[in-house]
Amino acid sequence: MDLPAYLKRQTTRVDDALDRFLPDEERMPHLLHKAMRYSIFAGGKRIRPILLLAASEAVGGQSDRVLYAASALEMIHTYSLIHDDLPAMDNDDLRRGRPTSHKVFGEAHAILAGDALLTEAFALLTDPGDDFAVAPAVQLRVANIIARAAGAAGMVGGQIVDMESEGGGDELDLPTVEYIHTHKTGALIRAAVEVGAILGGADQRTFKALSRYGELAGLAFQIADDILDVVGDQDVVGKDIGSDEARGKATYVALFGLSEAQSRADELRDMALETLESLGEKAEPLRQIVNFIVARTS
Ligand code: IPE
Ligand code: IPE
Ligand code: MG
Ligand code: MG
Ligand code: MG
Repeated sequence: MDLPAYLKRQTTRVDDALDRFLPDEERMPHLLHKAMRYSIFAGGKRIRPILLLAASEAVGGQSDRVLYAASALEMIHTYSLIHDDLPAMDNDDLRRGRPTSHKVFGEAHAILAGDALLTEAFALLTDPGDDFAVAPAVQLRVANIIARAAGAAGMVGGQIVDMESEGGGDELDLPTVEYIHTHKTGALIRAAVEVGAILGGADQRTFKALSRYGELAGLAFQIADDILDVVGDQDVVGKDIGSDEARGKATYVALFGLSEAQSRADELRDMALETLESLGEKAEPLRQIVNFIVARTS
């Protein structure tokens, strides 16, 4: 399987859907719509929507029908990045190879662009339109999984502990770092895989296996992010390098050092691959994506 070609093909599908769902810049309020589109179309690997598509395909689903949920997830993820970069949070200047939203549009517009992306995502999840004939009960379950993954028990919960743990130094412990990682990043990645499985029509056993895959891949993803913050090439990664150490962030690298962090990510990849054992050829993209997650350079 040619993973780069697969990722490119899926990225195009996701980007086309996002373009369709996001409000036009020509419409008022222009600057809000411009800021939303600026961050969404700055690039980004689209790993969450692609995982959603791949999970759906792995259980034999028809993936065009899941594009609404894939787009909503990317909108929520992009909102989280805009807010994560704000001066009150990580205070970063570079994102997806461009100046961060608040650098270009100012803080108020960046905050509101994030708010709008989050809210519009739920408008889409609860009313995807006629092209996405999803049974109401399924639609509701999908929206609920994403809401919980994005909220206080998920991504926002992880972000707050990330902030509170800054400068923790010697007091850093594994349960705290694991909490941060599984929540701030893991929750949305796991939700992506779960939603793909549900929309693809997975049975309960397969859903559980895929949910576990998502959990393991999500944690591995954030460990790789921590590693890239130290060893990454800023031009390739497209965001500020070294900012974790500068802010005294609770990362796997701070806790264990680079090589142990990488071994842990590789171990999680192997565990994630095991969860896919009962799934045949159709799960090949999921296998390749978790390999990519721990070996990526951006
Ligand atoms: C960055 O996510 C923030 C984390 C949760 C680690 P990505 O590495 O997926 O960022 P993009 O979407 O490719 O820009
Ligand atoms: C951010 O984690 C996670 C979310 C945005 C939810 P990081 O702060 O490590 O992400 P980057 O490194 O800025 O992309
Ligand atoms: Mg952060
Ligand atoms: Mg950050
Ligand atoms: Mg990071």
